[in-house]
Amino acid sequence: MDLPFDVELLTPHMGAIITGVDITGPVSEEMATALRQALADYLVIFFRDQVLSHEAHRDFARIFGPLHIGKAAAAWAMKDYPEIVAIHADADSKYVAGEAWHSDMSCDPEPPLGSALYLHTVPPTGGDTAFSNMFAAYDALSDKMKAYLEGLTATHDARRNFGDIAPPGSELPKSSHPVVRTHPVSGRKAIFVNDDFTTKIDNLPREEGDAILAYLYQHVQQPQFQCRFRWKPHSVALWDNRSVQHSAIWDYFPQTRSGFRVQIAGDKPF
Ligand SMILES: [Fe+2]
Repeated sequence: MDLPFDVELLTPHMGAIITGVDITGPVSEEMATALRQALADYLVIFFRDQVLSHEAHRDFARIFGPLHIGKAAAAWAMKDYPEIVAIHADADSKYVAGEAWHSDMSCDPEPPLGSALYLHTVPPTGGDTAFSNMFAAYDALSDKMKAYLEGLTATHDARRNFGDIAPPGSELPKSSHPVVRTHPVSGRKAIFVNDDFTTKIDNLPREEGDAILAYLYQHVQQPQFQCRFRWKPHSVALWDNRSVQHSAIWDYFPQTRSGFRVQIAGDKPF
């Protein structure tokens, strides 16, 4: 379809900066359809110069589906806005969210379809987000490895990621998902294990599963599968969590990087 906005590709295989769209207010149904198509085509889409209220942020994310309220992340949600989590790092930060490569909340039984991150304050340089294309990573596996992974499932556990930092009483979900999932829209296959949440491949000897996971982690993190987004104040990134992993690069300490994230509900991986 012809898209009613301009698109600047970050790489040939993923990532696009979209210009000529105002997402700070309601968008037409035609525009919403085009934005959904752009997400399907580019896996992660970016916008500049959008000053988003909490309401506008939620409305933008709802273009792509109902909102997701994560159980583990609930402890960090904004008062009066349970769908919105503050993302913030500054000179007092001891860690930042999402530094290791991951797919958001893959520990949930139904992990979010995608995430919409809005940053209003960014460091003068640094603080990029890197994304890696899990369709491309799967396609690059050997046929023998694809056959080996077929039908395997892996355990994803919030304790691996949040166990030490979650406030007392937080619910820390654990789920089992296919190592290779099928995208519900495109039907393409994507690698769906990540170093932040995945603890083991189910029903394999521990040493064998750990070796396979170590191989897959270094495989999916190769630069040819990636794009990298350089933030400016009031930029927005929306990624398809089913087909990309991402890493928030913390190279800007003690500078401040601050904004808000909303997640869109997804379905059970298959
Ligand atoms: Fe993340």
